[in-house]
Amino acid sequence: MREGVLFEVTRESLETGLRGVPVGYCTTSYVDPQKGLFYVGRPVAELAAKDPLEVIYLLFYGEMGNTAQVAAFGGELKKRALCKEETIAHIEALPHTGRSMDVFAASLLIAGMYEGAEDYEEDCLSVIAKLPQIAATMINSHAGWGATPSPKPELGYIENFVHMLAPPSPKSEELVSAMRLFQIISLDHGGGNLSTFVGKAVASGLEPMYGALAAAMTALAGPRHGRANQDCLEFVNQVLKEVGANATPAAVEMLIRRKLAEGELVYGFGHAVLRAEDSRAAICYQYCQKHFPNHPLVKIAQLLRTEGAKVLKENPKISDPYPNVDAITGTMLSAAGFPYPEYFTVLFGLARCVGVAIQIVYERTQARGGKGTPIIRPAYFYKTR
Ligand code: MLT
Repeated sequence: MREGVLFEVTRESLETGLRGVPVGYCTTSYVDPQKGLFYVGRPVAELAAKDPLEVIYLLFYGEMGNTAQVAAFGGELKKRALCKEETIAHIEALPHTGRSMDVFAASLLIAGMYEGAEDYEEDCLSVIAKLPQIAATMINSHAGWGATPSPKPELGYIENFVHMLAPPSPKSEELVSAMRLFQIISLDHGGGNLSTFVGKAVASGLEPMYGALAAAMTALAGPRHGRANQDCLEFVNQVLKEVGANATPAAVEMLIRRKLAEGELVYGFGHAVLRAEDSRAAICYQYCQKHFPNHPLVKIAQLLRTEGAKVLKENPKISDPYPNVDAITGTMLSAAGFPYPEYFTVLFGLARCVGVAIQIVYERTQARGGKGTPIIRPAYFYKTR
């Protein structure tokens, strides 16, 4: 390649989902094909046991905060944590029949109408602060679980969210700790994942923050993206039914081979960028093994992890035969006491909105010496059908 050329676009690069085509800078995180996710240069495993607020601070300011700085940031969020009554009333009036992610995206649009300041930085802080109440209200209402308890931001960012969720009751420490972990690993995943890219693309037309996040969440809703954690749990459940909780590795291997031979999908493997086991998945497998080693879903997910990769590696056409994060997060949330797959993608969105919002602030207010990036406008070649 010529010096300075980062990627050569050829005819073969077209219609491949912009795979690998560099389009800009991301200041929050990056994904190494072998080592996985890094937040501001730190491997996500190093951050997994921290308070989610510390990790949000890191993404927001680009450095770890000391105790006083994180507390002051928490104070700023607390000041903005409560949604207006109108926001809550309109979220609760949304249909209960639609898909949960449609309702989540609509809730963000409603929040924009009542809470939006049309200032990317202020809206970024404000939406991060209000997301726990927006998501909990939307879930409780959509599920028919009743009114949402008043927020208690003093409990902690995720603790407050879990407090506002109607079931399960009482809330266990295990649930809170699994939700904290899920939040941390899901906050951001480089600049090019679909939801983040869509959010930034929509904001490039100068759509305000809440609208751009609503668009990002409709992107996250698809089965190839955020909904995958829900589909993976269904798959783990189906395998559990077929082989039983005490299955041997050989039985799971045989089942995978049979499914592949019959042209069925084996869920939870492969990634557009990664070429090794997803570091986020590795953290969750470890967490599940420590906290719920005897849970039937965990036992099956662990067997799928090893046997799936073993079988898929035999096919040279599969560039990434390793488990991705979706292979285990649904199992982890269920084992921790939140067995409601319909809301897994909303929980993913609760976290991912934070990363998207911070990346939007960079692109709108800091990129190109503060001018911001121009409107996204790629080229398409005309072709007769
Ligand atoms: C994500 O976290 O967004 C997914 O792993 C998808 C991606 O990175 O492309």
